[in-house]
This record gives sequence, structure tokens and C-alpha cells, in this order.
Amino acid sequence: MGYIPVVRIPPVLLMHLRSTFPLGWRGIHGASHWARVAGIGERLAFENGARLDVVRLFAFFHDSRRIDDGHDPMHGHRGAELAIALRGTHYEIDEAGLDLLVEACQGHSDGGTTRDVTIQTCWDADRLDLGRVGIVPDARFLGTRAARRPEVIRWAYEWSTRAMRAAPPPPASPLPAN
Ligand SMILES: [Fe+2]
Repeated sequence: MGYIPVVRIPPVLLMHLRSTFPLGWRGIHGASHWARVAGIGERLAFENGARLDVVRLFAFFHDSRRIDDGHDPMHGHRGAELAIALRGTHYEIDEAGLDLLVEACQGHSDGGTTRDVTIQTCWDADRLDLGRVGIVPDARFLGTRAARRPEVIRWAYEWSTRAMRAAPPPPASPLPAN
């Protein structure tokens, strides 16, 4: 029986992120990736005690300011800035939670690990969704015990690749081929 996550994010925040996201909503760094990171993060958080609100918010902010699906080293910092800017108008969180969210967003693409279980859970959830780009998550790059368990890696990989297989083919170009 697979784990069924319950992803909650304020609709006003989701609408804002959707209307301002610079890249493809259905792309590799778009909404389905955010939803899976939230779901994977929830599974990890229920096991390891990470702050669930931070993990959920990280999922929706961390790639929200990407301007390139490839090399974009500052996107986490821009995502953190957006999280700071929208706090109080689009979602609520306490000071300690905001600090964790900002640090998690800023450092998520540096490839490191941290001793903070909430931040590490955010990063692990992101890394566990690599199946969508054809990569099997490597336990050596995961920092929480919950994330390194083979059945969790298998579950996340299956979810990620299933989503990729289910994606509809891109629309045909309106321009004539030449
Ligand atoms: Fe991501």
C-alpha cells in the first residue's frame, strides 16, 4: 500500500505562484514537481519529525523563481526572497519557520547536507524526485535516515517516473517543419 500524501497550500499562494512562474507550468521544475516534493517531504516528515509546514512551503517556493530549467545557480535565493515577500499576505509562518524556509530554499541546489532535520528533509524530498529526469536517487546524497531507506527511494522513483510516463506529448508546432 503506497503512502498517500495530503498536500495543503493556501490557494491564494498557489495562484500567485502559477501566475508569476517564469517557466513551463508542466515542465520539469513546474507544479507536478512541487506537488511530489511536498508529498515526498510529508512522508519523510511524518517519520523524522521535520516541520511539515516548512517542508510543504519549501516544495512550492524552492523552484518558483527559476528562469532556466538548466543552469540557474541563484534561483534558490530568489525563491527565498519571494517567500519572505509573500509572508503575511499569501501564507503565514512564525519567525523560526521562515528562517528554516529561507535557508532551505537558498541552499537546496548546492548539493550539501545539514544537521537540521527540517532543512535536510526539504533537500531530500527534492532529490528523491529525480526520477522525472531519468535519474535514480542515490542514497549517498540523501541526509535523513527516512529518505535513505530503499523502499522510500523505490516509492519516490516510481511516483516520479509514473508522472513522467503519464505526461501528454508536447503539442505539435504550429509552424511548418522545414
Ligand atoms: Fe526542485
